[in-house]
Amino acid sequence: MRRLVLATRNRGKIVELQEMLADLPLEIVGVASYPEAPEVAETGKTFRDNAYLKAKAIADFTHEMTLADDSGLEVDYLKGEPGVYSARYGEIGWNDQQRYEYLLSKLNNVPENLRKARFRSVVVVYDPGTGQSEFTEGSVEGVILTEPRGSNGFGYDPVFYFPEYQKTMAELPAVQKNALSHRGWAIQKMVPQLQKLI
Ligand code: IMP
Repeated sequence: MRRLVLATRNRGKIVELQEMLADLPLEIVGVASYPEAPEVAETGKTFRDNAYLKAKAIADFTHEMTLADDSGLEVDYLKGEPGVYSARYGEIGWNDQQRYEYLLSKLNNVPENLRKARFRSVVVVYDPGTGQSEFTEGSVEGVILTEPRGSNGFGYDPVFYFPEYQKTMAELPAVQKNALSHRGWAIQKMVPQLQKLI
């Protein structure tokens, strides 16, 4: 069976990606299976650049087909922040809760109609055998709450509210989040591309 390496050490993402790709005839492993693999600096200015940087660096090291996602939260009131800096927002060493609390502090007293946001994901699969890469994108619109709700998921999920479901991303069961999240959409579009590559 062909191996697919996931170019991430983020446990939340690995669990989601493994669930979403479970029906494909692929042996899916996280990059942690290669302890010597390089840490890839996300020096790009876009999700697309960073996704490609991660996939190519890990594929060049492992010589295996590699999937990378670069994703983040864009808040309109903050002119698209934290964007590509979502994982590094605020201070070095902070955990997810400290980062979303920092985000909430930046939106203190901002009314609900100005709290629109979206999660965006760019997924790339890079095949080191052919040098071929395939990109897909997904996004999902929501509103940033004033307080966290729910304990599923990771990152900014507890403060990202879907008006049509009347739930935060962290209140949705994993199956539902995977079906309608930014990464879920991007992966659904990637599945036929992966089937061609296998
Ligand atoms: P990166 O793609 O590894 O640079 O990091 C993406 C960051 O965006 C994560 O560390 C989270 O802070 C945030 N993020 C991406 N996807 C999600 C999600 O599905 N839920 C909550 N936060 C997310």
